[in-house]
Amino acid sequence: MRSSAEDRSWAAGTSEVLLGRYERVRAQTEALCEPLEVEDFVVQSMPDASPVRWHLAHTSWFFETFVLVELLGASRVSDPLWGELFNSYYKTVGSAFPRPSRGLLSRPTVREVLDYRHRVDERIRERLEGCGEEVDPELAARVTLGLHHEQQHQELLLTDLKHMLAQNPLQPIYAPPGGDSPRPSGSGGRGFAPVAGGLAWIGEREGGFCFDNERASHRVFLEDFELGTDPVTSGWYLEFMADGGYERPDLWLADGWDRVQAEGWRAPLYWSAGEVPGEWREFTLRGPRRVEPSAPVVHVSYYEADAFARWAGARLPTEAEWEHAARSLEAPLQRGTMLEDAALHPLGLGSGEGPLRDLVGEVWEWTASAYLPYPGFAPLSGSLGEYNGKFMSGQQVLRGGSCATPADHVRLSYRNFFAPDKRWQFTGLRLARTAGSAVSHSG
Ligand SMILES: [Fe+2]
Repeated sequence: MRSSAEDRSWAAGTSEVLLGRYERVRAQTEALCEPLEVEDFVVQSMPDASPVRWHLAHTSWFFETFVLVELLGASRVSDPLWGELFNSYYKTVGSAFPRPSRGLLSRPTVREVLDYRHRVDERIRERLEGCGEEVDPELAARVTLGLHHEQQHQELLLTDLKHMLAQNPLQPIYAPPGGDSPRPSGSGGRGFAPVAGGLAWIGEREGGFCFDNERASHRVFLEDFELGTDPVTSGWYLEFMADGGYERPDLWLADGWDRVQAEGWRAPLYWSAGEVPGEWREFTLRGPRRVEPSAPVVHVSYYEADAFARWAGARLPTEAEWEHAARSLEAPLQRGTMLEDAALHPLGLGSGEGPLRDLVGEVWEWTASAYLPYPGFAPLSGSLGEYNGKFMSGQQVLRGGSCATPADHVRLSYRNFFAPDKRWQFTGLRLARTAGSAVSHSG
């Protein structure tokens, strides 16, 4: 375990480098909004989602609150009441407007929020330029945290927007079909790669930026196991559906089966039956289209991932198995589809020179691991300690990043987390088996 002094060594750098990254990430958020009309910024389609305008304001509020006001002692650049509107869940900072009601607000306007963003940018720019060559490590650490926070919201902005567009019978598209997406090659395998167990180091130990929940690095004992070579494809998932996957209670966790009944789930989110019998279509940010059998299945809950794995005679990997396999088999790692590819949907690029493909990018992969603190976990001090630790209840860990994740945002130790019934994120799965447990297909 590193000391807290060492923990910030990654933050050392010149103000020019940090400011360059700040400008690039902040501009990326606004670039994601370019295809939108003003009406698209304000609608909230469900309690879990937030309007685009809220994401734009909240990410600015983060820099204003935790960098300008809390760390640097500056005055707020916005109306103090905006602090309540754009606080997400930091109870130690003040009250927060309820998330399910964020779509009820017509003010401040989109234009006012964009002005707010630019005022915050101006203040941050002034502070960083005033630092000279070396930035104070705490300032650099907080700005860097704010940028990774903003990148998390870039992905949420897209998934929330997708959910909102999907409610509309007009099926409006975010971007035209096609684009300059890379071509898939050789994805969709159903094999398993053997992974030697033993004592494995888990957690961030490369010395770069990470969230507090990725520490402390620690050892875990793993039995030998096998990990799926590829993310599970839509074609494979269609076989599960055709085999009565959604009608067989023996395949499901009790909570999952209850959810299937209550919600009427018969397919992944955004899938609908086509006009031709047996054909399935899916809504994407580039419009509705036929389900592509060779692409990773996406928008499934943990319950669906778990039921599929049971049907396939396998299981989901633990997060330690996933990370150990990635570290031992896949260095250097090559990424699958990510935000920069502008595909806005998993393609299944088949990237990777080792036995495992598309470990990073494409779809967040559900793991069998509950989201819990690592041994030696210490939340950030002060109000930022609310960032991750207080959500360590009732959620499952996901690994690897998705087609909507910025490429320089994820790491092999990165722990995403969602409740097991959520499926509006770009969530999919990869199978695992305990060594020697392969059984004939149970379907
Ligand atoms: Fe946030």
